[in-house]
Amino acid sequence: MTSYQRWTLRTEHTSYTVRLSPDGSWAELDAWGPHGVETGPSALDGSRRTHFITPADVAPAEYLPHGLRPFNGADLIASCPGHERGIWWTFAGAQADEHNLRLTFLDDVLGLRTTLCYATVPGTDVLHRWTELTCTGTQELRLERIDSAAVNVPVAAGARLTYLTGQWSQEFQRTQLDLTRGTFTMGSTQGAPGHAYAPWLAVQDGTTDTAPAYGVALEWPGNWHITAEAEPGGAIRVRAGRVPHEGAVVLAPGATLTTPRLACAFSPDGLDGLSRVWHRYDRRLAGDRLRRTRKVLYNSWEATGFDVDAAGQLELAKAAADIGAELFVVDDGWFTGRSDDTGGLGDWYPDPEAFPQGFDRFVGDVRGLGLDFGLWIEPEAVSPGSSLHAAHPDWVYRIDGRPARLVRNQLLLDLGRTDVQDFVIGTLDRLLGTYDIGYLKWDMNRPPTERGRPGAVGPVDLDAEHVAGYLRVLDHLRTAHPDVTVEGCAGGGGRIDHATLARTDVVWPSDNTAPLDRMTVQHGFLHAHAPHVMSSWVTDAPGVFDPRPRSLAFRFVNAMCGVLGVGADLRAWTPDQRAEAARWIARYKEVREVLHHGEVRLLGTPADTTCGVQYDFGDRTVVAALSTGRLDGAPLVPGRPDRLRLRALDPAARYRDTATGTTYSGAHLLHYGLPFTWSADHDADLVVLTRQ
Ligand code: DGJ
Repeated sequence: MTSYQRWTLRTEHTSYTVRLSPDGSWAELDAWGPHGVETGPSALDGSRRTHFITPADVAPAEYLPHGLRPFNGADLIASCPGHERGIWWTFAGAQADEHNLRLTFLDDVLGLRTTLCYATVPGTDVLHRWTELTCTGTQELRLERIDSAAVNVPVAAGARLTYLTGQWSQEFQRTQLDLTRGTFTMGSTQGAPGHAYAPWLAVQDGTTDTAPAYGVALEWPGNWHITAEAEPGGAIRVRAGRVPHEGAVVLAPGATLTTPRLACAFSPDGLDGLSRVWHRYDRRLAGDRLRRTRKVLYNSWEATGFDVDAAGQLELAKAAADIGAELFVVDDGWFTGRSDDTGGLGDWYPDPEAFPQGFDRFVGDVRGLGLDFGLWIEPEAVSPGSSLHAAHPDWVYRIDGRPARLVRNQLLLDLGRTDVQDFVIGTLDRLLGTYDIGYLKWDMNRPPTERGRPGAVGPVDLDAEHVAGYLRVLDHLRTAHPDVTVEGCAGGGGRIDHATLARTDVVWPSDNTAPLDRMTVQHGFLHAHAPHVMSSWVTDAPGVFDPRPRSLAFRFVNAMCGVLGVGADLRAWTPDQRAEAARWIARYKEVREVLHHGEVRLLGTPADTTCGVQYDFGDRTVVAALSTGRLDGAPLVPGRPDRLRLRALDPAARYRDTATGTTYSGAHLLHYGLPFTWSADHDADLVVLTRQ
């Protein structure tokens, strides 16, 4: 039997064992799964006999360059000017403990040191992986592919891939495919994760949702790819990394490039268990800010659009306070030159015509209603007719001699420039220092199109520089304005990744707030992210997207699955509607702790009659149940109530519905489920069960 040099990293419930290949040329996966899985012959072992390809091409390699792995997909491609592309390295040593591992490989001919880095994330079942690349020679290197890591999943007969896909207004649609041969790839070149795919993938050995699940998520709010390949030997190998805008990164002698981190997660409990691993990870990213109560928000965007003035906003703020909102956010339209989406961006001063008594007075009036105050801003954007653009035309991305296209009538600032970063930081400091602002919504509504920096000296890495600028400004907000809650938004859910989530408090998953659409968006979102980051609003029916009507109760229960907000035009609501809203908001406040800190179980799917979410925290279980419409009119025909089978309860314990007094055994709830009798005007419920 071959004996390998091996290292095992341990997370809360998971082991990840890496070994060197028999000839020591590369690192490969030995085992990944529940603690102890590393004891026994590796499930990834093959005969190592190959025909027409090399052993490296079929190895469950952790990271291999083009050169050593010539045919089946490489994680790193580098060259030196005038030389062939390719890296042939030798192992140069390991540094290891139970939670960290660094494996170094050297190519002295090319002049490249590559270190594969691993670190477990305390309190989670997540392992970080990234790669450090140092130019050790005297000539600069051209790095064409710089993936963060590759992970291998041994599958018996094809893999089930689950990913979150869509477009603007339809983000996070949970989508699945079975990959038996070939390659699946997704990504973005939009300078942001984008609306089309979340930088998140789940791989399962088997084609049921309950099969053990492996997940990866790339921490990178720029261009990226995640690629899954069905290897000839029957494993799935997933590569992930950033995608340089210029097609390659130039690494100068002595310089080191560190790739983004790839978070790797495992759960033996299928996709549902994997979602809880990711939720715990999101909580860890929030750190101390997890304890901050997410206030019930009112946002006036859908009610007033660009028609923002003090009187109209105060009328809405008063109505919002009356139903129990705790925070009032003025969205787009508050600044000079912003009567529609053609102007104003960059000139971040309150419009004196809209706030004739001063913005400070307006903020004070909102606060006088007992509400916290929040403001929208799109710091990376600039309108062509703005004073900012007139003063600094060189601050936008552009390519000399090429027309600058407008997207949503605006241009994009090159946030990779330090002078632009300083302008944005100065603007935010001024606004947050001048006005009593407790909440900031950071939006971004256009991708870079003609992306260049005329006059730049030397090679640029525009995508990485923009990301660094974005993160620098967000980090500044956290340190200079620690009490300000930050919402991340990019035309809905266009920039949601772990780097953003580590620096914001909530994110806006989609502009689509139509009830049934939103339910589907949230169902997908909760596979990857936790409820305490999922901002969700109750808006007017039928909404601007899916016109199928749902009750006010449905819209509230749906929005309560995350961080509750209201975005409807309350001025038009009847006293009865306002009273109902007040009741829902009061209930939400009673259970908010359970919703934001509890263990989540997704019950059913949007394709079922009832789609629900179960939250368990302490002795309370909250079930949000939504009728998808399939049983509308059910009372007209004889039938039994629909049921949601709960999970992870104690079969021997008793659980009391606090609203109706009905008591259920755990066994009943697990076996038969919680009953719901839907009708056209009763299409949602929020059940709070207390363990007796
Ligand atoms: C896009 C965001 O997703 C919306 O919520 C809103 O803030 C608009 N931009 C404002 O322009």
